[in-house]
Amino acid sequence: MEDKTELKEKEERVVDPNKEKEDENDELSLRPQKLTEYIGQASAKEMLDVYIKAAKKRNESLDHVLLYGPPGLGKTTLATIIANELGVHIKVVSGPAIERSGDLAAILSTLEEGDVLFIDEIHRLPRYVEEVLYSAMEDYSLDIVVGKDSQTRSIRIDLPPFTLVGATTRFGDLSAPLRDRFGVIIRLEYYSFDELKQIVLRTSKVHQAQIDDEAASNLAKRSRGTPRIANRLFRRVRDFADVKTDGKITIDITNEALNKLGIDDDGLDYSDYHYLRCIIETFKGGPVGVEAISASISEEVSTIEDVYEPYLLQEGYIKRSNRGRIATEKAFKKLGYKYYKGLFE
Ligand code: ADE
Repeated sequence: MEDKTELKEKEERVVDPNKEKEDENDELSLRPQKLTEYIGQASAKEMLDVYIKAAKKRNESLDHVLLYGPPGLGKTTLATIIANELGVHIKVVSGPAIERSGDLAAILSTLEEGDVLFIDEIHRLPRYVEEVLYSAMEDYSLDIVVGKDSQTRSIRIDLPPFTLVGATTRFGDLSAPLRDRFGVIIRLEYYSFDELKQIVLRTSKVHQAQIDDEAASNLAKRSRGTPRIANRLFRRVRDFADVKTDGKITIDITNEALNKLGIDDDGLDYSDYHYLRCIIETFKGGPVGVEAISASISEEVSTIEDVYEPYLLQEGYIKRSNRGRIATEKAFKKLGYKYYKGLFE
């Protein structure tokens, strides 16, 4: 950690890739509307371009699409683009918000022919709601049970053809029957440095802010491969630039703001250090099970698995083995320790 960076515990992580209200408001106005405006995810874009054109040519609804990958990589944005490119409406809902099968029926009955229904966090749909979704996806029909006690009967409601776009950060948590009903399954990847830099430059243009090339590079480097984080850091740095200088985003103001926020040169923050220190100092570099780390740093296993680890794995700070997590040489170096291989590695 650079000693300029103020390494301290934060109530909320600035580099948390999960969505916040501020991101949502900002993202809506920032969001690219067409596939050609969307930066990165080349293979996802190429596939979607073909499937969308084919569906339009045949005058059919697009097959159901599942988008999965770490948070903040643009699943909602892609869903909106899919609807725009198809020229249809989009209805956005979140899996855990659909509590009863009646809720799902109400949503489905508002769809018009060809519309997109976007279900975020689809792995968190209750199982009995998921089961209603099967026939909706397969035959565009709803089978629901009405009435009480001995009076119950099943009624079938026909739906217009529609496209379900599901998004999840946990592909493995999806049940096989649900997974199998998606014709198109796309994994989103972390963004490259060049792509993030392009996104930062695009965002500053949308906000009509001036930014130096070096500052844009620095923001891209510290954004953990994640556009949502790049845009959030951009907003914080712009606040500093507006209040402390003439508003121009320079490398100096970028460094000042991000160091104050406790984000190091590689985008790691207090929580990452805490996690790595736990493996190295408490568990001698690993291997160590995630439950033991969870107990040691008082963080939920799901947060560790979904938020902390994906980027640390991708960047090679940790490895996963069947015996647990192992800190790599890169992690030892980052914390200023001499590297030694774990006892059981
Ligand atoms: N803003 C956030 N993500 C983006 C992306 N992938 N392309 C363009 N602008 C974005």
